[in-house]
Amino acid sequence: MKTFLITGGTSGIGRETVRQLALTGATVVFTARDADKGEATKKDIIDETGNKAVEYLVCDLASFSSIRACAEEFKKRYAHLDGLINNAGVLPQERQESKDGIELNLAVNYLAPFLLTNLLLPLLKRSVPARIVNVSSSLHTEGQIDFADLQSEKSFDKYRAYAQSKLALILFTKKLAKELAGTGVTVNALHPGVIGTEMTMQNVRKMNPIAAFFFKRTLISPKQGAETSVYLATDPAVEGVTGEYFIGKKEAEPAPQTSDAATANRLWEVAAKRVGL
Ligand SMILES: NC(=O)c1ccc[n+]([C@@H]2O[C@H](COP(=O)([O-])OP(=O)(O)OC[C@H]3O[C@@H](n4cnc5c(N)ncnc54)[C@H](OP(=O)(O)O)[C@@H]3O)[C@@H](O)[C@H]2O)c1
Repeated sequence: MKTFLITGGTSGIGRETVRQLALTGATVVFTARDADKGEATKKDIIDETGNKAVEYLVCDLASFSSIRACAEEFKKRYAHLDGLINNAGVLPQERQESKDGIELNLAVNYLAPFLLTNLLLPLLKRSVPARIVNVSSSLHTEGQIDFADLQSEKSFDKYRAYAQSKLALILFTKKLAKELAGTGVTVNALHPGVIGTEMTMQNVRKMNPIAAFFFKRTLISPKQGAETSVYLATDPAVEGVTGEYFIGKKEAEPAPQTSDAATANRLWEVAAKRVGL
């Protein structure tokens, strides 16, 4: 039986990803930052799918020590890992910092998947064929890696900080794919579509009512949003495919700045130092 780990399984796309993977009969483990919400989600998914092999681990992705504890707990409980889906993400309205004093987009959207993936790589390599799926965003196209102000301390713009973190995640995906060549572990990134989850709605609530009305008509469902994650984690059609970017279950061309190997290498070094690897 296959085992999957999904971050941010308590709402939105992540919850739906857990549900769809549970329907395949797999063991599905998700992270929840709040134990009560984790418990309620677990119960609902088991009721909805009939799959009792659904579990959660408490993990605050805005804390390196919590991520480390979560990875340790996962390794203690599960002998293999067929798919890791780095799904959780944030788009804070104001500049915020993680428990480790890192700007929150950078911490949760980039450094958390960077650390969790690296901690679980030995297990993934022992579980081959295994897959890593990184949920990025089409907004990465607006991103630049600003090494002079990586944490937006000098100036903060919510979309710029988010775009930078999602670009960083694709740079990580491509570099990791090269490092993992020939190991049987693949890693791909995706844009899930634009979905009316809490992350989106917090911005919609700030729009003028007419713009909000028309924007809401373009939104797709969390079910559709989760499909590309599930496809990349499970479908035989993408067996062996690695280092790519997908939209709507199709390979797509990410922004040119995702091919900047010098930036990818420098960012990796900065990230490894920050997370203490
Ligand atoms: N929605 C879109 O249109 C869209 C578009 C492009 C990309 N994405 C990406 O898709 C992914 C899922 O987003 P979504 O739309 O489903 O958002 P969402 O409904 O807001 O869900 C985000 C998930 O991440 C979890 N999370 C946030 N901060 C966390 C932390 N510090 N520690 C642990 N878990 C944390 C949340 O936990 P709680 O339940 O406790 O809040 C929740 O489970 C994100 O990476 C997002 O950037 C979304």
